[in-house]
Amino acid sequence: MFLDKSTNEFGKDVLSGLSNAFQKSTPSKYLYDDTGSELFERITLQPEYYPTRTEIEILDRYASKIVEYIQKEIVLIELGSGSSKKTKFLFNEILKKQNQLYYFPIDISFNFLTSVVSNLENSLSNIIVKGIPYEYIDGINHCNNILFENDIEIKNISRLIIFLGSSIGNFEVDDARNFIKDIRLHITNDDFLLVGFDLIKGISLIESAYNDNKGITSKFNLNLLNRINKELGGNFKIENFSHKAFYNQDKKRIEMHIVSGMDQQVFISSLNKKIDFKKNESIHTENSYKYSPEDIDKLIKRTGFSIEREFFDKNKWYELVLLRPN
Ligand code: TRP
Repeated sequence: MFLDKSTNEFGKDVLSGLSNAFQKSTPSKYLYDDTGSELFERITLQPEYYPTRTEIEILDRYASKIVEYIQKEIVLIELGSGSSKKTKFLFNEILKKQNQLYYFPIDISFNFLTSVVSNLENSLSNIIVKGIPYEYIDGINHCNNILFENDIEIKNISRLIIFLGSSIGNFEVDDARNFIKDIRLHITNDDFLLVGFDLIKGISLIESAYNDNKGITSKFNLNLLNRINKELGGNFKIENFSHKAFYNQDKKRIEMHIVSGMDQQVFISSLNKKIDFKKNESIHTENSYKYSPEDIDKLIKRTGFSIEREFFDKNKWYELVLLRPN
């Protein structure tokens, strides 16, 4: 089988992640192929999945306040934009203070991004949408190039970079800090960063968000095995594995795993690799860290940003943090 560059990277990461004798794991970004992005979109509509509607509640209430902090013309950059559904609350407020808006959704699901961009282009006027099918930091660099090519002078604008959906919680805490630092290195003093954090709350509320009744999160998780079968020539029997998500209180995170239902062996032909699973052995596929406002303070220290303002929903289940370079 001939593998292109990105499939090759996927293969390498799967090989090393599934070869770990202590705990098999895979980087969570591989959950988000086009099917994964569609399934994730359906997760966000489930009644148990509170983060999306809570974040929408905050954006609906505070978008105008957020925009008030920014004096210059805004260029909006969204990391991991997905469906871009929540962003419309910001579009509306930004277009009250300027006639035109550049919007750069950055997302690694190429086809998904392409269809979202064409829908946005058809439904919105005064918004110039440029989809960026890259990883986050590469994507930010690419936006800078496009602005330059369009004769937009960086000194006349403020970039508002938004990172919603508690995706920051899918990083290890140290990686989250380094990521925010890294963003700082690619922007100027006039730019802003808006980040969504899911807050620590009752365990049963958190756990049911990741174990929805309809089993969409389970499909989302197990889709990784389909992806390995399809792209790397694996022979995983999906029915021999199950979804598991639980809150790890010590680590303050939801852990998502794919659990083997029996002793079994799987073969991945493009890697020429046999992988043994014991009954109940798992592949750790994603974490979702939950923060307290104090944890967030600590995280932001020494990133090159200060907290300008925090916005909460009425239950304090979730917060949006507006960060400004210091
Ligand atoms: N950013 C989402 C979150 O942390 C991603 C997500 C959705 C997720 N479902 C998940 C992460 C299940 C881990 C497990 O909520």
